[in-house]
Amino acid sequence: MTDTITLSRPVADFHVHVRDGDMMKLVVPTIKSGGVSLAYIMPNLVPPLTCVSDVLAYKSRLEAIDPTITYLMTLYLSPAITPQVIHDAAKAGITGVKCYPAGVTTNSEHGVASYAPYYPTFAAMEQHDMVLNLHGECPSGNHVHVLNAEQEFLPTLKDIHTRFPKLRIVLEHCTSAAAIQAVKDCGPTVAATITAHHLFLTIDNWAGNAFNYCKPVAKFPTDRQALLEAATSASAKFFFGSDSAPHPIANKEKGNGAAAGVFTQTHVAAYVAEAFDQVGKLDRLNGFLCEFGRQFYNVPQEKPTNWTVVLKKQQNVVPALLGQGPCAVAPFKAGETLNWKVEI
Ligand code: NCD
Ligand code: DOR
Ligand code: ZN
Ligand code: ZN
Repeated sequence: MTDTITLSRPVADFHVHVRDGDMMKLVVPTIKSGGVSLAYIMPNLVPPLTCVSDVLAYKSRLEAIDPTITYLMTLYLSPAITPQVIHDAAKAGITGVKCYPAGVTTNSEHGVASYAPYYPTFAAMEQHDMVLNLHGECPSGNHVHVLNAEQEFLPTLKDIHTRFPKLRIVLEHCTSAAAIQAVKDCGPTVAATITAHHLFLTIDNWAGNAFNYCKPVAKFPTDRQALLEAATSASAKFFFGSDSAPHPIANKEKGNGAAAGVFTQTHVAAYVAEAFDQVGKLDRLNGFLCEFGRQFYNVPQEKPTNWTVVLKKQQNVVPALLGQGPCAVAPFKAGETLNWKVEI
């Protein structure tokens, strides 16, 4: 087996949280150093990005830190996102709209409680060929809990797809065998992102360790197996979105109500190479990391890259922390040794 993999082009990461302010300044430079040239940016800031001008101002702040990255931008679905806003957003080059069910994860308290009021918005998105990004979980309550929240959401995915068959939909960060099957069952306008951390984690890994706690939570070993199979299947319906979600360590270490999110940005390509190597599927790495997402999104305005990502099989110790002081973030697998390293 080869010890060096040269990617066809840098990684496209179709689900990225880089926050704002000091955290943004810490995290944005690690997009490129992790091997990524295209980042699909999530809108769950405080307050969330619910108007076009706020999204464009945020994009300018990102460009000011690293202008070589292609930032694809999203709006946060809320009652403010009318068909007129979709029209303006499409014109302004905003790529998608992220839908968070109310209360399921970080900064989702402004999210969606029921989908029917948004049908005119979805129709406008379909017309303007904007992408709908679904955080696919039902809020906990009655018979719903973190382990079945994704499965319980799948009828909603199918329902929206049936009503709007031309609307491109991405089921974000899928974590279960049931979700993989549902995405396969839908037509070609429905795809899914898979994170790096969910290729490694199961319930045992976060039940005792808040640094592995994220939403949706990692599920059973059979689910992890289904994610690995989908990611390495060469099906263009499944592509990479890290859902790298930095939180200051103080917010992770507080025992009661630790923040949900795993931070992977610094080493995204190395983690995924490690997972694919473990199942002997390194030949499937390039499609998953670099090609399938770009095909689905059909990005019109990507910046040219004059740099190449090479993965080398060599020991690579993940540092304990990125940054220092109140913003310091612990990367996924901090202190552990990976067998792959990115060279740019
Ligand atoms: C929320 C928003 O725009 O973030 N609006 C608000 O708080 N007035 C969305 C919402 O109400 O759900
Ligand atoms: O674990 C998560 N963290 N899941 C999400 O959907 C949001 C994210 C965050 O913003 O921290
Ligand atoms: Zn999400
Ligand atoms: Zn996310």
